[in-house]
Amino acid sequence: MVSSRYILLTLGLPALVRGTQYALIKEYAGTNFFDDWDFFGNIDNLTHGDATFVNASQAASDRLAFVNSAGNAIMKVDNTTVVPLNSKRDTVRITSKDLFGVGSVWIADMLHVPFGCSVWPAFWSSAPAWPTGGEIDTFEGVNMVLNAQMALHTDPGCTLVDPTQTSSRVTSTDCSVANQNLGCVVKNPDPNSYGAAFAAAGGGMFVTELASTGISCVVFRANIPSSLQKNSTIVDTSTFGVPVANYPAGGCNIDKFFQPQNLIFDITLCGDFAGNSEIFPQTCSGSCYNDFVIGPPRNYDNAYFEVRSVRVFGTSSAIEVEAVLNTGRNSTGTVGPSGNQTVRRRGTRMHWSVGH
Ligand SMILES: *[C@@H]1O[C@H](CO)[C@@H](O)[C@H](O)[C@H]1NC(C)=O
Ligand SMILES: *[C@@H]1O[C@H](CO)[C@@H](O)[C@H](O)[C@H]1NC(C)=O
Ligand SMILES: *[C@@H]1O[C@H](CO)[C@@H](O)[C@H](O)[C@H]1NC(C)=O
Ligand SMILES: *[C@@H]1O[C@H](CO)[C@@H](O)[C@H](O)[C@H]1NC(C)=O
Ligand SMILES: *[C@@H]1O[C@H](CO)[C@@H](O)[C@H](O)[C@H]1NC(C)=O
Ligand SMILES: *[C@@H]1O[C@H](CO)[C@@H](O)[C@H](O)[C@H]1NC(C)=O
Repeated sequence: MVSSRYILLTLGLPALVRGTQYALIKEYAGTNFFDDWDFFGNIDNLTHGDATFVNASQAASDRLAFVNSAGNAIMKVDNTTVVPLNSKRDTVRITSKDLFGVGSVWIADMLHVPFGCSVWPAFWSSAPAWPTGGEIDTFEGVNMVLNAQMALHTDPGCTLVDPTQTSSRVTSTDCSVANQNLGCVVKNPDPNSYGAAFAAAGGGMFVTELASTGISCVVFRANIPSSLQKNSTIVDTSTFGVPVANYPAGGCNIDKFFQPQNLIFDITLCGDFAGNSEIFPQTCSGSCYNDFVIGPPRNYDNAYFEVRSVRVFGTSSAIEVEAVLNTGRNSTGTVGPSGNQTVRRRGTRMHWSVGH
């Protein structure tokens, strides 16, 4: 499917002289935004949410996933249906068809993120083999919290040590899922990092760098670097300043704990995190399911992502690997190592035990 594109890019790449320079390899934007994602098409069987993640045809017909008149992708929770008792509310979870390995940077330009009591959105990535291949949560929030958070989830042995980052709000440093699957969580200290304030401030551009030297997340808003303001085909992450969250290779061998990642957007409701009996009352009152999921549909008027684009960049070696992974074949036509990576799953996320 994308092999010719990747191979052309590999041949046509300018010489990348620094480890921090990456070339554009994939863009999700405009009317074609949804073309290269899979819709989950089942209930939330991963995090016990009171949500049904609809399939592509239902998402289109019910207008839960569409491109708006401004050319931006909308992914939203159903805010028109009165849901009967013991049923779930419709929403969206999409997974990129392509995988992006160590040596990749993905940049999501978002104008609005979902929020509201019972709402639990995330923009994240996971290897098909979870947790062996690692999970990177670039953006996550619940209910009416004011600060978004970032995290990694891995096999035992990956920890957050000696970061160079702006956030001092590290709530757990062991990334292992064996540690109650808490993840190594860094909260974004910016009061505009979530909720109504995020949209009012003009949204944000989330940069996730998956490099052998470490994993970093930067969020730009007012101060977007000039190289990201235009449709650049090359980005240099060394010009992006100190990240909000940084997981250096010193505490976590990135090449060992991270395999090529699928990108994922999802919005679930209640479940293990937003609906947790300790977490929910921190920012909302009432009952997560009874008062919200089956309550007035207008509870979900703010439960939507509005995304201008997701653009992925790679080093030249990453692009060659991705060409193999994404097509199952390399340029000689040989079946690659991942021709049959179809398993996509995620364990329960249990961030609530720390950091509040
Ligand atoms: C969850 O749903 C997905 C999508 O339908 C399916 O592939 C997977 O097997 C289900 N997992 C469990 C644990 O039921
Ligand atoms: C999508 O989901 C709807 C509702 O569950 C179902 O009726 C329809 O058959 C599904 N379509 C496909 C293509 O799976
Ligand atoms: C950005 O540049 C790429 C590569 O030149 C091109 O394929 C894409 O259509 C451009 N996107 C926009 C939104 O202009
Ligand atoms: C539902 O949410 C959308 C934003 O996603 C909003 O425009 C609309 O007014 C809301 N309410 C109804 C009843 O559609
Ligand atoms: C591509 O296939 C050839 C022929 O089997 C093999 O020698 C080579 O190592 C493969 N390249 C990659 C990147 O897998
Ligand atoms: C993938 O799995 C299918 C079904 O098990 C099998 O028929 C096919 O040969 C496999 N393809 C590769 C590339 O391994």
